Amino acid sequence: MYAWIKKITPALVFCLMTMSTWAQDVPAPATLEDGLQVAPLSMMELSKTICGWGTVRANRSIDGNPITLAGKEYACGVGTHATAKIVVKLNGSALRFRCLLGIDDETGGKGAADYCFTGQGENGLRTVIAEGSVKGGETPVNIDLDVNGFKYLIMDFPQGGSDEFDHLDLAAARFLWHDDDGAASPPFIVSQDEMGQGLACATRTFSLPGVRYMHRLKPVHATAQVSVSGLPSGLAWNASRKRVEGVIEAEGEYTYFVTVRDDRETFCDTVHLCVSQDLIQPVPFMGWLSWNVFEEEIDEEKMLAMAHAAQRYGLDTLGYRYLCLDDWWHCCATRPADGQPDYDHAKFPHGLAWLADSLHRMGFKLGIYSDAAAQTCARAFGSYGFEETDAKRYAQWGVDLLKYDYCGAPTGQQEAIRRYKAMGDALRHSGRDILFYICEWGPREPWKWGSETGGTCWRTTYDSRDFWDWRAKADGGHIGAMQGYDGNKHLWPYGGVNRFNDADMMMVGLHGTGKSSSHDFASYLTMTGQTSYSGMTQEEYQSQFSLWAMMASPLTLSFDLRSIRADDLRIISNKEMIAINQDPMGQQAEVVCDTIVGQGTAPCRFEVLVKELANGDVACAVLNRGDSRAAITITPAMLGLETGAYAFHDVWGVAKQDVTVGETGLGVVADSHQTRVFRVRKL
Ligand code: GLA
Repeated sequence: MYAWIKKITPALVFCLMTMSTWAQDVPAPATLEDGLQVAPLSMMELSKTICGWGTVRANRSIDGNPITLAGKEYACGVGTHATAKIVVKLNGSALRFRCLLGIDDETGGKGAADYCFTGQGENGLRTVIAEGSVKGGETPVNIDLDVNGFKYLIMDFPQGGSDEFDHLDLAAARFLWHDDDGAASPPFIVSQDEMGQGLACATRTFSLPGVRYMHRLKPVHATAQVSVSGLPSGLAWNASRKRVEGVIEAEGEYTYFVTVRDDRETFCDTVHLCVSQDLIQPVPFMGWLSWNVFEEEIDEEKMLAMAHAAQRYGLDTLGYRYLCLDDWWHCCATRPADGQPDYDHAKFPHGLAWLADSLHRMGFKLGIYSDAAAQTCARAFGSYGFEETDAKRYAQWGVDLLKYDYCGAPTGQQEAIRRYKAMGDALRHSGRDILFYICEWGPREPWKWGSETGGTCWRTTYDSRDFWDWRAKADGGHIGAMQGYDGNKHLWPYGGVNRFNDADMMMVGLHGTGKSSSHDFASYLTMTGQTSYSGMTQEEYQSQFSLWAMMASPLTLSFDLRSIRADDLRIISNKEMIAINQDPMGQQAEVVCDTIVGQGTAPCRFEVLVKELANGDVACAVLNRGDSRAAITITPAMLGLETGAYAFHDVWGVAKQDVTVGETGLGVVADSHQTRVFRVRKL
């Protein structure tokens, strides 16, 4: 018998022997079932699963009660909360997966969840084995899956239309596996990133001809060995820094191969590199979106007013060129009878083609918004099923960007990929260069597939609000700047030229005047007992701008540009910060240090980020997440730089002159919530 089973024998025996309720028609005891070994799911490493709320539990419901479905208690099983995900490596031994799936009786009949069981084969191809939904108060669904031949079983449990009480139980969940020759091993849970690939990085990358290219490779297991072969001339493998770098002069499609070896397996991946002069937006796009401040009250007059104001303040020359209509430019909630998309003629009396033309003549670009379902998030008509019609019409109007949302669409990842690809293809065939901006907020990990659907950037988080630290709900919902930052910062291996992780619109300039960006103000006041709140502090706005620039997130403004405060203008027009964001090597900063500084009553959490730049400089940001002023010492070694002398240039001009820094480093003082940024040059 396999080692782990020996180790947990008493618990396993308890679980198996108490299971007269194993499944409705299966007799107990069940150490063997249908002549096969039994591996209960609850005995596996549940910490590697994803659970939408609370902590996933073995043999208990999410609230810690005995697992109870339709009045019947189950001794064994797993209690979780949608949206949940469990990935099991089947190890060549598992033949069946069985459980009873339902919403625990503890919700009193509330709650719902969808389920989708997918098998992934050795070749990476996926097959949906079973899908459906369960509701509180209903009889559980008997799941009995043939998983033979798959390498992984992926169990996806999105929320089923309700927003709470989605207490999903997998009662009596177990795998049946064979151990004919005594050498097989039972299935086990893996984290999503361990699944089927040793590399958690982009495998479709881009570069500009003649510009320094960098592809940082992050193996899933930090200790794994990575090697690269078949590199095109101009590129070299830097083994100690785990990155491919160099310059390719000639446009074209190139490939190279990455091999990752850990103590269990060897993974191979092919990297496709496209070197092109013609990428629509090789660096993060910069601009303005209408939603946060105007919601559906957007019209032609306001769009033109934004353009004129942007010119007056010089924002266009700084790079803010995409002016985007968000939700509700539409005529109506349902698509007109002729099947063509139409705009609101009262709001846009001269039409969208005229608006696009006017903006183009002023040097701006026009963005538009739609959704991969029948309706958008604010319930205007969407584009699902009409992708080609809409893409063609957008092209005729002269649109330059499409933000494509995901409200009302099915939750699964594969379906999302299909829907985004349908629109990506349609845009590609529309006859016009239209930047494709994916907005599904992150749950389906678009950083892993966005490029394949034609996307240039993708939201990685839910909607940002005018708060520094805010999470409306434990399992998603509106968030503050720090939640957006935390949700985006670890995705650096997926960022690069023409593929950007987007942490949503920035709050600078709003000062509580927004519409959607102020949605949670009332709850905030109730929660804190305060009487007034008018948005983040100036220090916090500047920090958000700095962090977004470092993360190569698109720089999108969302306030009314008609009147810009001098202190806001100072933030959004810092050319050195913008140059770091717009660097043609397209790298996303990596957090190289996350530490607590100081002790006693006011310790501060500091994070240090490094972004490699095309000319060989690095940008370094120092964020103080604590509540008081504190200092940290930054050394070249900490930034991954070789020994030597460096000039530290203070991007926000706190230190008036560049400082020469050697091995002993530089003491950096930062106020509470301040981000200091330095451009570091080798001397
Ligand atoms: C979603 C998006 C927002 C905005 C609104 C419009 O919530 O995430 O950025 O586009 O829809 O309804």
